[in-house]
Amino acid sequence: MWNNLVLKLILLVGLINFINGDSAPRVVCYYDSRSSLKDGLGKVLPTDLLPGLSQCTHLVYGYAGIKANDFKLSPLISNEELDVNNGLYKQVTSLKTQYPSLKVLLSVGGDADETFEKYLALLESSTGRIAFTNSVNVVLKQFGFDGLDLAFQFPKNKPKKVRSTLGSVWHSFKKTIGAAGKPVDENAETHKDQFTSLVVELKNSFRIDNYELAVTILPNVNITWYFDTASLKNYVDYINIAAFDIYTPVRNPKEADYVAPTLSITDRNVDDNVDYASTYFVANGLPGNKIVIGLPTYGRAWSIEKDATITGSPPIATNGPAPQAVQTRTPGLYSYPEICNMLLNDQNKNLKGELAPLRKIVDSTKRYGLYAFRLPDDNGNHGVWVGYEDPDSAGNKAAFVKGKGLGGVSIFDLSTEDIRGSCTGGQTKFPILQKVKEKLK
Ligand SMILES: *[C@@H]1O[C@H](CO)[C@@H](O)[C@H](O)[C@H]1NC(C)=O
Repeated sequence: MWNNLVLKLILLVGLINFINGDSAPRVVCYYDSRSSLKDGLGKVLPTDLLPGLSQCTHLVYGYAGIKANDFKLSPLISNEELDVNNGLYKQVTSLKTQYPSLKVLLSVGGDADETFEKYLALLESSTGRIAFTNSVNVVLKQFGFDGLDLAFQFPKNKPKKVRSTLGSVWHSFKKTIGAAGKPVDENAETHKDQFTSLVVELKNSFRIDNYELAVTILPNVNITWYFDTASLKNYVDYINIAAFDIYTPVRNPKEADYVAPTLSITDRNVDDNVDYASTYFVANGLPGNKIVIGLPTYGRAWSIEKDATITGSPPIATNGPAPQAVQTRTPGLYSYPEICNMLLNDQNKNLKGELAPLRKIVDSTKRYGLYAFRLPDDNGNHGVWVGYEDPDSAGNKAAFVKGKGLGGVSIFDLSTEDIRGSCTGGQTKFPILQKVKEKLK
């Protein structure tokens, strides 16, 4: 009799949790497996993530792609990912033996695959959607994933300039925006409906195994175009908004600006910030606790030239991506540990040229995020401007998420986090992740 009552109580609590959605904030940690292919400090293997994983509710493996001919899920970096004993998929899901409550999802797309056309073709083909769904289920089951993150590749907004009054630096601007006025996707409405169908088909196919389904909105995809909130809300576990890369040196070579603002900024597009995106989805009926906000652990870095503004305050005239650094080895992209070690410290305080320290400018209003910069030297060389997140700014964003009752924060990604604690002399590993977790409590 007692047992029976306890059982009923447990079932009731379970039901209430089910109806409300699990309300503990998510900390969704991405792992970009391309980092496993690098050498030196940039190389990150699944086991390197272990010291951070106690802070994550989700670990998301990035990224799988799709095959253009049959739309089936397929590995992106090598077929060895699929080795059932030693492949990367298995290595990542095996981390659950140490963290049994960790949910490990496989992410598809994520701007790691070829162009978006293939993804739109998948949507347009009902047999293609079935083939995709079936192949997803096979892979999730075979490797022991807990679900799928649909980081679907859609056409992106055209880059917009912030100001037209910067004078001569705009001489090449017309080339950047491309053919003026042409819509990015004439069939966006149809693609929106087809995307809804895909999500419904996937989630229905997941019910037996109780797999999670997340939808990730990639940077610079217009949130009003492809996501029918009312239809999606009962089929997604959460919607993850990658609210960063608003400016990048590739999209915006001639101008840098805040890369991941929390709130709107005067004289900018009203829709390019965390607050706009989360408010939009809540207004369209998505429960706040199903909204996850993504932030980067890397910075976007531009070269700045002699005639750049001396305050460093954005928007700032730039000259394409800054030279690559030793770990990330990608022009215009610095990991958080690379950036923190470029800031003023005892070793670099007297150095000149490309080794001279960067000056960090903190945003005390907590609206815009932070940046760091180094003015060009007398010959006009080595000027750098980088927009990024550090533990404090990421903590501010997490506090915003918590204050609004949203569903959590996602970290893009662990491979550019300070996994060795090099910003604190080895003291604090995964400092951004830790601060986010702390502020969400
Ligand atoms: C997103 O789409 C809406 C509606 O078409 C448009 O008003 C808005 O300017 C777009 N945002 C961007 C950043 O292009």
